[in-house]
Amino acid sequence: MAKLLVTGGAGFIGSNFIHYWLKTHLQDEIINLDKLTYAGNLENLKDIEKNPNYKLVVGDITNVDIVGSLVKDCDAVVHLAAESHVDRSIMDAAEFIRTNVLGTQILLDAVKQYDKRFHHVSTDEVFGALTLESKNKFNENTPYHPTSPYAASKAASDHLVRAFIYTHKIAATISNCSNNFGPYQFPEKFIPLAVTNLLVGKKIPVYGDGLYVRDWLFVEDHCRGIDLILEKGRIGETYCLGGMTSEINNLEVIKKILKILGESEDKIELVKDRPGHDRRYAINWSKAKQELGYQPQFDFDRYLEKTVQWYQQNKNWWQNIKSGSYKDYYEKQYQ
Ligand code: NAD
Ligand code: DAU
Repeated sequence: MAKLLVTGGAGFIGSNFIHYWLKTHLQDEIINLDKLTYAGNLENLKDIEKNPNYKLVVGDITNVDIVGSLVKDCDAVVHLAAESHVDRSIMDAAEFIRTNVLGTQILLDAVKQYDKRFHHVSTDEVFGALTLESKNKFNENTPYHPTSPYAASKAASDHLVRAFIYTHKIAATISNCSNNFGPYQFPEKFIPLAVTNLLVGKKIPVYGDGLYVRDWLFVEDHCRGIDLILEKGRIGETYCLGGMTSEINNLEVIKKILKILGESEDKIELVKDRPGHDRRYAINWSKAKQELGYQPQFDFDRYLEKTVQWYQQNKNWWQNIKSGSYKDYYEKQYQ
């Protein structure tokens, strides 16, 4: 039986990861350390909050005392807490540096002190942009070239993890993955924004020419990838994790969503581009396949449809976010 400290477990990937882990590792205990920023939503964890193997600690990963006491008492840390939205980092980078860089350093200090296993969840955005013309994909040897403040803060956190591995010999691994989609994704991100806009009759803002390409990964495949790294990953290594169906541009994604919802293309609104918008991301995940047996199981079209259905069936979940009332949940259930 293991005790896992998950940071950022009330966010999109973190809450999916906790659901996944409690289903697949019945003996394990999970402590979820989350600050409950705007992106942290306890309604994501409603159905497991009474599970005796799950405990929430509301706190900040930059708090040395909280982090120290929780790291001391666990077997392994899965670090997901971050400021994660590129557009917000363009408006104001300060919180990205505090949480993503300083917070990671504070976790690393505790991991070093108490000699614990650490897995750092990072992003393919640290590698910068690929062109539409090239056939290249990112892999574990791609040089770092972050272009947004968010990506730069994640790159800095990756460098810190690597430095602690090299200098202090901590037992850490890193994963860099592509764009996740699935249930519980905050509706500021492209797919849930598009679906929830359509469900209330609004148009979908598509940046620039809409030909930006992402390598979509269903969130449960990502969770299984992290599990495989914890189980079989070589200490000190980085693993790139990507999706099954792979690359698709934003307009194509939207046309698929419009088709699923029976809407017409006049719901597409081309708007001003994101500054410094990365043209294309794509992941070569062959190292994870060879070393860990990683293989995405969820294809984009089928799971996009299931994801759209999830947002249709869970209107309260996103309406509570849009109205702001999701923030009352903590007061009602925990205070
Ligand atoms: P999210 O924004 O949905 O959730 C982030 C969570 O971290 C929230 O629950 C928030 O309350 C918590 N948090 C933020 N600052 C904190 C702090 N200082 N202390 C404690 N908790 C704090 O993010 P996500 O999309 O689930 O991403 C999770 C991780 O995966 C991030 O590290 C992100 O960089 C990485 N990632 C995300 C994607 C993606 O497509 N969403 C892709 C690759 C990598
Ligand atoms: O690649 C992994 C990254 O994927 C993660 O590290 C980030 O945390 C995550 O937010 C995501 O970053 P992106 O910037 O790729 O995701 P986002 O959902 O913001 O945008 C996806 C694409 O859609 C991108 O090309 C920008 C575009 N877009 C986005 C929004 C919000 C639009 O065209 N219109 C929009 O309103």
